[in-house]
Amino acid sequence: MNSYKISKLQVTNFRNLNPDIITFNNGINCILGENGNGKTNILEAINVLGTKKSFRKNASFPQFLSIDGVKPEIIFSSVFENNLKEKISYTSKMTNDSVLWFVDGVPVKRKLDIKIVFINPFDSYGFHNSASDRREWLDYFLSQLDENYKKSLAKYTLALRFRNTLLSKKPSKFKEQIIASDGELSMLSMYLTARRVEFLKEIEPFIADTFQQIFSEKHKLQISLDSRIINVSAINVQKILLNNLETDCERGHTSYGPHKDDYVLLFDGLNSYDFCSLGQQKMSYLSLLFAYIELFRYKYTSYPIVLIDDVSGELDQHRWRRLVEYLEKREFQVLITTANEKFKEELDRISGANKIHIKNGSVVH
Ligand SMILES: Nc1ncnc2c1ncn2[C@@H]1O[C@H](COP(=O)(O)OP(=O)(O)OP(=O)(O)O)[C@@H](O)[C@H]1O
Ligand SMILES: [Mg+2]
Repeated sequence: MNSYKISKLQVTNFRNLNPDIITFNNGINCILGENGNGKTNILEAINVLGTKKSFRKNASFPQFLSIDGVKPEIIFSSVFENNLKEKISYTSKMTNDSVLWFVDGVPVKRKLDIKIVFINPFDSYGFHNSASDRREWLDYFLSQLDENYKKSLAKYTLALRFRNTLLSKKPSKFKEQIIASDGELSMLSMYLTARRVEFLKEIEPFIADTFQQIFSEKHKLQISLDSRIINVSAINVQKILLNNLETDCERGHTSYGPHKDDYVLLFDGLNSYDFCSLGQQKMSYLSLLFAYIELFRYKYTSYPIVLIDDVSGELDQHRWRRLVEYLEKREFQVLITTANEKFKEELDRISGANKIHIKNGSVVH
């Protein structure tokens, strides 16, 4: 698999950023500056260029476009380095209804497959407090690792939406149609659940190890799937859907299936949401993410680009230092932002780190 590191970026009309050329190294890049100057916007621009999407929910072209933009078009010009150390110029032009991509000046139909892990300060809170955030987390990262899972999940989501639409109308008219399509829904349910279980098994050895490596504390961290589908055959899933059909008709939606799954993060065997302090929750969450990054590398022999938006909150200075030391030992490309002067002092210790100072959307030299 091709892997990429970003070497240069210039954006036109993206949020408050001026079209300066920003240069990155292949290791640790610290993006520094006071509040509201554009640090997060740089990470978001890279995320949008790499994945078409923001890390922010419900943010798309109208939010990305600079309020001072003369033309309703955002241009991302960039240089990436692939695993053969070849430089690739990559441009993306985004308007409200289309995105065009150019590799070395030549239009291409599909975007480059740039793998990114984005870590933002609220993720830990969301992950611990909301089941839908946990589901989204798992689906997003597992999809990035497994194209088949991504496709099956898309099929399942579509089939489920269709079923729910029928259920919310006059269900008695559509019962036959619902029953006829439940076979496919059951097969997909089985597959998705089995793949989730497998993924959690794959990531588990990395999680325990990562926590120990970053925070040098002996805690057992595990993640488990809470699902009503585990060990149920496709035939039985279909039977349960049929048994539930009357109640689903009354409720107007499907009450059984992998869309109801949940995940539990266990800290020394206890639910981290109930048991852990905010700092411990953050450490657990970061360990889970870095475990994912290691699993990614184990599978693909290359790392994703890691974008870390100020994660210093809730962690004490000792933990910051451990985290920075951990990042220093890794081989992945990291872009990390902070407005926190004390955390910046920790980042300043990193030898060879690239420092990018941002003021009013511009790079300060
Ligand atoms: N569409 C837009 N057009 C112009 N400016 C925008 C747009 N969207 C957001 N901004 C501006 O971008 C700035 C926010 O930038 P960003 O979130 O990157 O700051 P930051 O440096 O990460 O700050 P903090 O340290 O507080 O996280 C704000 O000043 C905001 O007004
Ligand atoms: Mg920010």
